[in-house]
Amino acid sequence: MEKQPKLQTDIGTIRLKNPVMTASGTFGYGREYSELIDLSRLGAIIVKGLFLKPAKGNPPPRIVETPCGMLNAIGLENIGIQAFVEEKLPYLNTLSTPIIVNIYGHTVYEYAELAARIDPVEGIAGIEVNISCPNIKEGGIAFGVNPRSAHEVIKAVRDMTKKPVIAKLSPNVADITEIAKSVEAAGSDAVSLINTITGLAIDIETRRPKLANITGGLSGPAIKPVALRMVWQVANAVRIPVIGIGGIASASDALEFLIAGACAIQVGTANFVNPRATIEILEGIEHFLSKKGIEDIRDIVGTLRV
Ligand SMILES: Cc1cc2nc3c(=O)[nH]c(=O)nc-3n(C[C@H](O)[C@H](O)[C@H](O)COP(=O)(O)O)c2cc1C
Repeated sequence: MEKQPKLQTDIGTIRLKNPVMTASGTFGYGREYSELIDLSRLGAIIVKGLFLKPAKGNPPPRIVETPCGMLNAIGLENIGIQAFVEEKLPYLNTLSTPIIVNIYGHTVYEYAELAARIDPVEGIAGIEVNISCPNIKEGGIAFGVNPRSAHEVIKAVRDMTKKPVIAKLSPNVADITEIAKSVEAAGSDAVSLINTITGLAIDIETRRPKLANITGGLSGPAIKPVALRMVWQVANAVRIPVIGIGGIASASDALEFLIAGACAIQVGTANFVNPRATIEILEGIEHFLSKKGIEDIRDIVGTLRV
């Protein structure tokens, strides 16, 4: 009989029973998937990005299918932190799965305020900070494209909470290791990457953009090689745990990220194609490790031979 490998993974003080998490914005507030999979088997659930107040997001069309992926410009539609804590969290806390909230803001103050509101809430294991949002005080340039503003926003969140902080990095930068090092210096407990890559789709008949927002974020298998390259670079540049995201749709995709240096992974767009993707990826990782006689998942992390 195959020996069960150890899958436990630590992200700061968050203990995950396995490395498979859901990516923000692709898994709603969790309960939407409760009839399709056993949510208690997930390593962690990361919910849709939350703001201080409810947000309507962008006008439609907000999604375009692309070869091997999709472009989205949802515009961070969400119910707001208060409704999440009152209406969604009680159910999520009946599960034996850590719940991580994803937050965003338009100013450093808004991020800090969100962290301060979340800090006393029991049943939230950690905060993932989406820094790919436009900074309205700096002409709409995203916080995450500049090491200084990335540092500033993570430091502001860090100062407001003792909960583990995960900085979610934007790939729309020249050197992602610079940003990773700046958020590590600001006190982030981990980094997750990548968020979507900015893209454009055009309707040649009307010569108009296919998305009302003009540009959108590319996700899905199309971005996996870029994500993998960035995870590998970042894992070699920082000491904090790295969480891999980008086009993961199978156990072998997930294993590539682990070998590149990620200690955990998130499944995003694949949830839309196959709602059982997370569980199938988990079972596939387990099977691979058993078959190879690898007793602890940590023994495969960062083992890329170059
Ligand atoms: C429809 C959609 C909504 C998303 N919403 C968020 C969000 O609210 N906050 C965030 O940090 N990332 C968001 N993302 C980015 C994903 O969490 C993930 O980083 C990205 O899609 C790459 O992973 P994937 O290729 O597995 O989808 C969203 C992605 C999609 C496709």
